[in-house]
Amino acid sequence: MTLPTSVTLVEMGPRDGLQNESARISVATKLQLIDDLAAAGIRVIEAGSFVNPKWIPQMADSAEVFRGLQRRPGVRYTALTPNLQGLERALDAGADEVAVFGAASEAFSRKNINCGIAESLQRFEPVMARAQAANVAVRGYISCVLGCPYEGAIEPQAVLEVARALLAMGCYEVSLGDTIGTGTAGSTQRLLETLLADIPARQLALHCHDTYGQALANILVGLQHGIATIDASVAGLGGCPYARGATGNVATEDVVYMLNGMGIDTGINLSALVGAGARISEALGRRNSSRAANALLASAG
Ligand code: HMG
Ligand code: MG
Repeated sequence: MTLPTSVTLVEMGPRDGLQNESARISVATKLQLIDDLAAAGIRVIEAGSFVNPKWIPQMADSAEVFRGLQRRPGVRYTALTPNLQGLERALDAGADEVAVFGAASEAFSRKNINCGIAESLQRFEPVMARAQAANVAVRGYISCVLGCPYEGAIEPQAVLEVARALLAMGCYEVSLGDTIGTGTAGSTQRLLETLLADIPARQLALHCHDTYGQALANILVGLQHGIATIDASVAGLGGCPYARGATGNVATEDVVYMLNGMGIDTGINLSALVGAGARISEALGRRNSSRAANALLASAG
């Protein structure tokens, strides 16, 4: 077992986090959050999504957010793009990188993107071609890799098939979404054993929602299998509008605290990150869901 020496954290707060907040959030608040995160040393920030605004009104102003960014050197500002229309909007707004998102569950795919798995993969093909022509890298997400709110258990083989298809069409990396956070160290291990027989660890990322409090344990299993890209959301912001009761991604502060303790480099300044999480939690009038951040804030008096 060789642990990675450094890990890339992909920050989900401004997208996965804020897409699920009921309060209206101004573009200025979003831009402040994104800049706080970049200032703390985060190098990949999912800053918005170009989806149907009737489905996710919280992301309707993503073009304004991208246009208002104070770009810091070395930071990639990325966006979700479910179809060609979304991709054109993202390119127009200046996204550095985009992502398509599918699911390992047929029912979740229909709820989330209004089509089944096979059709979704067909829809992604023109998105890939257009992004490649524009020289923009595409990430792929798979939701429900460790369980689905409608179908229950999901077979690792179903995840493998979608992952293979996304990589074959040109995604540089596949992020494995435990959308409802039901995965455990055991099921994560079984999933990764199936995937890693076929796919190198460098092409996989883990995207754990922390609904059942299992995310750090599952991430540790991922690290032990060589996975070095982890999605997380500052202050644990978020949830999923198509998965009732789902909470946000694992808090970025908690992941950084764990990685610091393991001697794994992230390039992130934890106290600046804690400051970013405290500021957005206050702006939203929301409890900070990061255990490490709350402990550090309390000990700082
Ligand atoms: P649809 O309704 O099937 O699309 O949506 P359509 O092609 O039939 O178009 C219907 C209307 O939507 C038209 O407008 C289009 O112009 C408009 P109308 O004629 O009715 O006025 N439209 C768009 N407008 C702006 N941007 C677009 C766009 N596309 C269509 N890109 C679609 C299909 C996929 C677009 C829709 O289902 C959708 O937006 N879904 C996104 C849902 C979403 O954002 N979910 C949350 C993000 S995924 C997630 O959180 C999971 C993840 O974190 C991993 C994990 O945790 O598992 C990534
Ligand atoms: Mg998510």
